[in-house]
Amino acid sequence: MTGVLGVPWSHGVVRRADGAVEVGGVDVRDLAAEHGTPAYVLDEADFRARARGYRTAFATAFAEVGTGVDVYYAGKALLTVAVARWAREEGLRVDTASGGELAVALRAGVPGAEIGLHGNNKSDAEIAAALDAGVGRIIVDSLVEVDRVAALAAARGVVAPVMVRVTTGVHAGGHEYISTAHEDQKFGLSVSAGPTGGDSPAMQALLAVVARPELHLLGIHSHIGSQILDPAGFEAAARVVLRLRAGLADRTGVLVDEVDLGGGYGIAYLPGEVPLEEDRIAKDVASAVAAICAEHGTPLPRISIEPGRAVVGPAGLTLYTVGTVKPVVLDDGRVRTYVSVDGGMSDNIRPALYGADYHAELVGRSSDAEPVLARVVGKHCESGDVVVHEVMLPGDVRAGDLLAVAATGAYGRSMASNYNLLTRPPVVAVSGGASRVLVRRETTDDLLALDLG
Ligand SMILES: Cc1ncc(COP(=O)(O)O)c(C=O)c1O
Repeated sequence: MTGVLGVPWSHGVVRRADGAVEVGGVDVRDLAAEHGTPAYVLDEADFRARARGYRTAFATAFAEVGTGVDVYYAGKALLTVAVARWAREEGLRVDTASGGELAVALRAGVPGAEIGLHGNNKSDAEIAAALDAGVGRIIVDSLVEVDRVAALAAARGVVAPVMVRVTTGVHAGGHEYISTAHEDQKFGLSVSAGPTGGDSPAMQALLAVVARPELHLLGIHSHIGSQILDPAGFEAAARVVLRLRAGLADRTGVLVDEVDLGGGYGIAYLPGEVPLEEDRIAKDVASAVAAICAEHGTPLPRISIEPGRAVVGPAGLTLYTVGTVKPVVLDDGRVRTYVSVDGGMSDNIRPALYGADYHAELVGRSSDAEPVLARVVGKHCESGDVVVHEVMLPGDVRAGDLLAVAATGAYGRSMASNYNLLTRPPVVAVSGGASRVLVRRETTDDLLALDLG
């Protein structure tokens, strides 16, 4: 079948009449010949379109209820200098989760004021680097961090802009959300009172920030999960955060200006899956925020969000070369064809880590062969080294074929490892019929250079 492949591929993925696939106007066979495999291929136009889509959808929806929005691209999903620049050019700010991500955003020319720094265990060096760069917000994650940020700000004679990350008890992911009072996880400060009653850790942190002249309390932050497909979770979290905001105002007279509702917007990983639609979620969340503020009689805060996966996930694919192909007879008599590729869990840990599902297709040619039940596996010494658990591939799949896995733009390269001392693949951007290496392939010499013997 020729034409645009559609969900879950990026907009620029097209099967040509000769059977090969192109992305961003570049034939995958040329990409493989020029850059080798495995390679992460990033469709720049698709990334930009999704970044714009989120910015426009949220700006429009919140303007309608009377407030503004900042969209922070969550760099943890994938951050390279070029990617940070694209995000900025499309009107997004950049959310970082470490000193390394901060350094890349700064190298890209993102102004400090448009960068946020997250982390449940930031080092002093990371906090200091953020303050020296004049970041727009440090999202504090614990009571001790309030003191540490204040001390480092005092040493510099600056006032640090901070948000307090709270845990709302709302967890979301996939199609559902759940709500619990107490949270058993490492992030944020709970809005529920501790075992001895009294102020919640979240309220204690807010009060501590308000009390410190070296800190400016910008707002309250909440992130409820990932791959969320149901807006109800965001609305429930907004309710908790806005109640806390009103409670703080009652206590102290300080009505914080901003509320960050985090990231987690879900995408399609498989054909037929329906991704979260940004216009719809933006409208739903905006009207919920407006209604909740009206209930509290408080003016609307400025809102920020932090999408990562939804911006970069669908824009990426991973290009592999097929090696060993091995049919295995299952207990129920079915045959599963194990298709080994030249990468695996070191370039995409998500199937092994979370059981994440992906979709793959042969992309160097088309085939009329009867499809077979296949499992795409990597080349690592680990039986859990699965790239795609289950997919139908043409029965004549063979060594040398090019195979692409869709929607690997988020948390592929950024979670990659050197397991088995494999070298990490390059990140190659495609746009307007040309390709460009954003991050070069690691070499064995790179690995040997780190090993001091
Ligand atoms: C605080 C925070 N913001 C944003 C994100 C981005 O999430 P996603 O890529 O699912 O949009 C994450 C992901 O873990 C996060 O922890």
